[in-house]
Amino acid sequence: MPAQKEEQLIELNGQTIKLPTHVAIIVDGNGRWAKERGLTRMQGHDAGFKNLKQLTKHIINRGVKYVSFYVFSTENFKRSAEEVGHLMDIFVLLYKHNLKEFMDNNIRVVFSGRNEPLPKSVMRARDELAEKTKNNTAGTVNFCLNYGGRAEIVDAVKKLAQDKDVDIENLTEQDFVKYLYQDLPDVDLMIRTSGELRLSNFLLWQNSYAEFYFPKTKFPDFHEEDFDQALIEYTSRDRRFGGIKNN
Ligand code: IPE
Ligand code: IPE
Ligand code: MG
Repeated sequence: MPAQKEEQLIELNGQTIKLPTHVAIIVDGNGRWAKERGLTRMQGHDAGFKNLKQLTKHIINRGVKYVSFYVFSTENFKRSAEEVGHLMDIFVLLYKHNLKEFMDNNIRVVFSGRNEPLPKSVMRARDELAEKTKNNTAGTVNFCLNYGGRAEIVDAVKKLAQDKDVDIENLTEQDFVKYLYQDLPDVDLMIRTSGELRLSNFLLWQNSYAEFYFPKTKFPDFHEEDFDQALIEYTSRDRRFGGIKNN
């Protein structure tokens, strides 16, 4: 069962803020951001991923231990070959050219998602970055790439079924988490930019008791101060986990 836990408090511009342990962000609105400016969808993605780099540093510097970014869903392969190809190129560049940045900021990078049908170049860049950053300790960035929440649960069940040591009668929720793509704590704060009010198959298991925040801002314009605003909103939420209010 998700348990009420001690939350870390930080000072932010004279206010006391509750710090979520795990923030999950659905990167959304790149296409509409570009359209508003008469740019192509590809240019929207370029702007979005430039922003993602800045935002990652800020989130980890605030003291958040885990941040998951939904950057490509299993369903996103339905998009045009040009757009999918451009996004795959962005991922290769992002993972290959930012090793120093991740190392300098002591950030561990992990990935969640299926291999098929990712291009080999993406898988190579992905695996290399994960390997080289695996001992970093400031915080963990989980890139959900070719990710689907239902696919993750099905893949976990397949792994579990192949585990000869599993004690199925006594299996707990905590045991099940070990079979997911990554063994991460539950999401505390889930942010989806661009005003869409849905999960689109994102971290279905981990988001069970997350607080949801839906800013209208499109992702390329969602900057440091917008993230801080999300923390202020999160602080005002009363999380009960099915129990009753404490005070
Ligand atoms: C970014 O936003 C999502 C991905 C990185 C796949 P979209 O490309 O979904 O932008 P909109 O929703 O069309 O505006
Ligand atoms: C969800 O956004 C997937 C990612 C942001 C990676 P979409 O833009 O693909 O979701 P829908 O189609 O609006 O639900
Ligand atoms: Mg979208």
